[in-house]
Amino acid sequence: MTFELSPIDKAKFVAAKRATRYVESGMKVGLGTGSTAAWLVRCLGEMVRDDGLRIKGVPTSSRTAQLAREVGIEVISLDEAKWLDLTIDGADEYDSDLNLIKGGGGALLQEKIVATASDQMVVIADISKQVDTLGAFPLPIEVIPFGWQTTKALVEETLIGMDVLGRTTSLRMIGDHPFVTDEGNHIVDLHLNRIGNPRQLSLVLNQIPGVVENGLFLDICDAVVIGFGDGRVEVRDINKGAVEEERYDFLEEGNLFTDISD
Ligand code: 5RP
Repeated sequence: MTFELSPIDKAKFVAAKRATRYVESGMKVGLGTGSTAAWLVRCLGEMVRDDGLRIKGVPTSSRTAQLAREVGIEVISLDEAKWLDLTIDGADEYDSDLNLIKGGGGALLQEKIVATASDQMVVIADISKQVDTLGAFPLPIEVIPFGWQTTKALVEETLIGMDVLGRTTSLRMIGDHPFVTDEGNHIVDLHLNRIGNPRQLSLVLNQIPGVVENGLFLDICDAVVIGFGDGRVEVRDINKGAVEEERYDFLEEGNLFTDISD
């Protein structure tokens, strides 16, 4: 079965494909969560199957763990791995310093723990995730269920003193029920519109009892691989200070996966 991918899926696919070049046999690799990371996991699975790539993957969610196993990647826990060579993950926003908002898929806690335990973090994204200033995407925070309404009220009170443009918050729902993370917690989304001082905000949020972690990833990402719908890919590496560009002619028949669901 073949079908045409949407421009956004082409962009995600080429970003993921280009990012596989960071992966070498023998590596322990953190596997991100979300639709872009799912492309990466499929690409790596293909390399394991067809090219003899040997890696151990540490998934950042139960969804990613399931997909990784399905495509033949050896899955280990973070405690088994202890430290990782590389993590590749998606993002909801990245700025010019490669600071990120993550957690749109509700996996920010495991994602942050895994990325922080890695020598290198590479983000894969389509160009729509690029922003001048973080905050248009609602900032997710993971909160424990006990007293979550009180925690949410405390967060709202704290936001009054912060350099942000919006201050409304919402409990993330799935249908009629609060979303529950892999760690059994809830997500509160902060509609801030613009975050003037992400560093200060991150520190202050994490001091509130009941907040487990927030979705600001600051000074964690080393490189971002940006995909475009026409097959172009741009790589920005914060350490090398370099920008590389190339183009994938990736639409030959048989070169795509048939399963594109997250
Ligand atoms: C999940 C995440 C995702 O990486 C982020 O939401 C991007 O997802 P997608 O690649 O589907 O746009 O942080 O918690």
